[in-house]
Amino acid sequence: AKNIAVMTSGGDAPGMNANVRAIIRAAIYKGCKAYAVYEGYSGLVKGGPEYIREMHWNDVRGWLAEGGTNIGTARCMEFKERWGRSAACKNMIDAGIDALIVCGGDGSLTGADLFRAEWPSLIKELHETGKITTQQYENHKHLNICGTLGSIDNDMSLTDATIGCYSSLARICKAIDYIDATANSHQRAFVIEVMGRHCGWLALMAGIATSADYLFIPEKPSSHKDWSDHMCEIVAAHRARGKRKTIVIVAEGAIASDLTPVTCEDVKNVLVDRLGLDTRITTLGHVQRGGNAVAYDRILATMQGVAAVDAVLEGTPEIPSPMISIIENKIVRKPLVEAVKLTKSVAEAIRSKDFAKAISLRDSEFVE
Ligand code: F6P
Repeated sequence: AKNIAVMTSGGDAPGMNANVRAIIRAAIYKGCKAYAVYEGYSGLVKGGPEYIREMHWNDVRGWLAEGGTNIGTARCMEFKERWGRSAACKNMIDAGIDALIVCGGDGSLTGADLFRAEWPSLIKELHETGKITTQQYENHKHLNICGTLGSIDNDMSLTDATIGCYSSLARICKAIDYIDATANSHQRAFVIEVMGRHCGWLALMAGIATSADYLFIPEKPSSHKDWSDHMCEIVAAHRARGKRKTIVIVAEGAIASDLTPVTCEDVKNVLVDRLGLDTRITTLGHVQRGGNAVAYDRILATMQGVAAVDAVLEGTPEIPSPMISIIENKIVRKPLVEAVKLTKSVAEAIRSKDFAKAISLRDSEFVE
């Protein structure tokens, strides 16, 4: 039996609670003790019973559908420093934790992977400076770590979906359905900004699901030298066919072909000045991250949680830290470090304007 801790990190996502619930209950079911680290990596750095708490079966009752994360999350700067990771290491050992499951996005999982790689040198240092006993040193030579993927952005390589992305997408579509009614009534245009950081998945899927007129995503800037000509041509054609409303979706990381950001304000100005459309901007903001998890996210989070407990129970120092993914509807383990590396290469290719490379990297993900 092991002492397994779960933590949520980075931006909250609907389904994180379902993931924590599944991990805690699967750990208890397998005869282990379950713990929750509160407030993400910053709770791990602070340590002690306030932040690292043993959890029982009933502590997570009712968490399956709830949005957000009840154990808190943070974007933690201290964990980026070695002293922060050393404090986290000592706190985990003091609490007797043998395995850590981190639910978060690529930044959080990069931190998790670094933590595991550094673990041997961190414990050696703690032992040599007398901060942990020889017994503790012997018992905690290896850190068993596993990532589950929680992020509304669906921006991680080597998985089809991240926990929360379908809830967020459903919320975006609902909001656009509401906007449709008023846009249609006034024959207006709406420019809608959606989240996703450097990833256009939410914008692209929302565009398909709401039949938006035009959209901007970071991965594929319009190949047209001047996006405004192309957008106006399309929007004007739709209006000429009798469409009373115009919806343009802008991903928050959207860029033009010269890599300059495309903002909602830019798009609005073009629609007003060139097409004379009465135009409003709606930034959906954090509404996209709130509310209950949709069924898909509850199921994904639960299946990933159970698989993560199995993965840490089977983990050995020789096996690279896994991340639990869903690929072609199957829950699978993937090497965390590779997924993080691939995610970063895609972002790098986009930054250096090599869109063909970004797309081929994305395609290469699922080739064995
Ligand atoms: O990663 C999730 C996300 O909601 C992104 O889509 C967005 O760019 C970012 O977090 C917003 O961060 P914050 O909640 O810290 O403002």
